[in-house]
Amino acid sequence: MKKNKEISFWDSIFNEYFSKDLAERDMTGILEFWNKRADKFAGMLKEINSPYTNSIKDFLKEEFKIGEQTSVLDIGAGTGIISASLCDEVKDCMAVDISPNMLKHLDDFTRDKKINNITTLCSRWMDVDDTMGCYDIVICHRAFGVSSTDSEDYPDFYRSVKKMNDMAKRGVVIISPAKDSLKQELKEIHSPRDNFEPLDKCDHLYNLCYAMRYFPQVKYILRNEELVYYKFDEFYESLQHGKRSKITKKQAMEYFANKARKQCEKYIIDNTKRTKILWWIK
Ligand SMILES: C[S@@+](CC[C@H](N)C(=O)[O-])C[C@H]1O[C@@H](n2cnc3c(N)ncnc32)[C@H](O)[C@@H]1O
Repeated sequence: MKKNKEISFWDSIFNEYFSKDLAERDMTGILEFWNKRADKFAGMLKEINSPYTNSIKDFLKEEFKIGEQTSVLDIGAGTGIISASLCDEVKDCMAVDISPNMLKHLDDFTRDKKINNITTLCSRWMDVDDTMGCYDIVICHRAFGVSSTDSEDYPDFYRSVKKMNDMAKRGVVIISPAKDSLKQELKEIHSPRDNFEPLDKCDHLYNLCYAMRYFPQVKYILRNEELVYYKFDEFYESLQHGKRSKITKKQAMEYFANKARKQCEKYIIDNTKRTKILWWIK
């Protein structure tokens, strides 16, 4: 697929949007940013049998009929929540990530659990040798950053998505958090959405994939959760999440006072998390 005008248009819009997102992050470089977060992500390996990961498994069974013969390429794998959740259902998983600290947790996990069908590869996605063979399904879970290039400020979604498609025999699955209710409400406090802003950055990805004639489909997973805090400062700190938050302490305090229910010594905020699955079958 040549990069025609329609593709270039959506690619540039998406890259521009993502660069803005990166600029807001509190980071000096991708590697350091993710290496520092590896210990926190390791906790997610406890979620491998959660309703959330089970809903992803069910989705893959329904749409891709995954089974003992299926090979999976898990890109931006982190500590391996996807590979670890799927390894009992499929033939094998190759987990690729730029961060050695993330992959170390996955290697420790597979050794402890005596899992022998997960292999790890420490590499930037764009540097993975695409002659190493194809996989039935390429999955990118919460890892849009895999599109980063040597110049980390300029991701290349077109080449990255094309590579996902080229290395997939049966299809590609891109799963990412869409805006959840808490973040949406907070964002509207400090910078209300203008008419041109998409609801989430996956909207641009959808258009890019459509322009590339992959004709993606979309599905949401909704989860209601209770966010628990013991004091306001904990809530305020959670808003930073690797980004320089634009919300002032006063605005956050007003929001917290309105939204948090007090229960004994805890404060609870109800949140609806929306996760978007974008996929196509070749
Ligand atoms: C938000 S984490 C998600 C990890 C995992 N997929 C999950 O859902 O728990 C994003 C991951 O992408 C990795 N990553 C970022 N840029 C990358 C790149 N260019 N190539 C490969 N991995 C990358 C990071 O190291 C990090 O582990």
